[in-house]
Amino acid sequence: MDAKFWHDRWQEGRLGFHEGKVNRMLEAHIGALKLAPGQRMFLPLCGKAVDIPWLLSQGYQVAGAELSEIAVHDLFSEMGVTPEVTDTERHRRYAAEGVDIFVGDIFELSASVVGQVDAVYDRAALVALPGETRTEYAAHLAEITRCAPQLLVTFEYDQNVMEGPPFSITQDEVECCHGARFAIKVLAEAVVPGGLKGIVPAREKAMLLQPL
Ligand SMILES: C[S@@+](CC[C@H](N)C(=O)[O-])C[C@H]1O[C@@H](n2cnc3c(N)ncnc32)[C@H](O)[C@@H]1O
Repeated sequence: MDAKFWHDRWQEGRLGFHEGKVNRMLEAHIGALKLAPGQRMFLPLCGKAVDIPWLLSQGYQVAGAELSEIAVHDLFSEMGVTPEVTDTERHRRYAAEGVDIFVGDIFELSASVVGQVDAVYDRAALVALPGETRTEYAAHLAEITRCAPQLLVTFEYDQNVMEGPPFSITQDEVECCHGARFAIKVLAEAVVPGGLKGIVPAREKAMLLQPL
C-alpha cells in the first residue's frame, strides 16, 4: 500500500473503512486507559474518523496523523470547525481548539512535532499496513509517542478468503510488533456484524498496551 493507493481511495471516495459513527470498542474501553480530562490522545492514520469529535466531546485533546489532505479537510468541515493551517518542516498542521492533525506521512513525523501524547488509539491503522511495514510502524509509533499506552483495535479473519487492507492481525503478530515495548492485554472480542466488507466472517478485538 503506497501513498498513491490511499490518495486514490480518498480522491474516489472509496472509504469502506470509515465507520461514520464512534467505534464500539473505543466507546466501551477508553476507560482502560485511565485518562484524565484534558489529556491528549494520538490517532495514527486517523482518516476523518468520527472518533475524533467524539473524543473532543469527552473532554480529551486529540492529535492525529493522516496522509490525505482531503480526509483532513473533510474532518474539519464535518466537525463544523475552521482550522488554522500552518506548515511544519515535513507536514501541514490543521489545528483548532483541542485538536491538531498532521497531514503527511506518519513515518516522517517526529516526537517533537507531535508534542505531548498521553495515550494512543489505533483503529484501522496497524491493520491497514502490509506485513513488511508493521514492525517499523510499531517502533516508530512508540518513538513519536514516547511509548504512551495504547488502545489497539484489530480484525482477525481468514486471510485466504480476502486480501487486505484491512489485514488480519493475529495475537502473535501483535506480540511481534509491540511485545518488546508493551504488555498486551485483550480487553474484548466481538463478531463483526455481517462480516468484513460483507465477504468474510471476522472478529474485532480491542487490546490495551501498557509500556513495560
Ligand atoms: C484504513 S484507513 C483508517 C482511517 C481511520 N483510522 C478510521 O478508523 O476511519 C487508513 C488511513 O491511513 C492513511 N494512511 C495510510 N498510510 C499513511 C501514512 N504513511 N501516514 C499517514 N497516514 C496514512 C490513509 O490515507 C487512510 O486514511
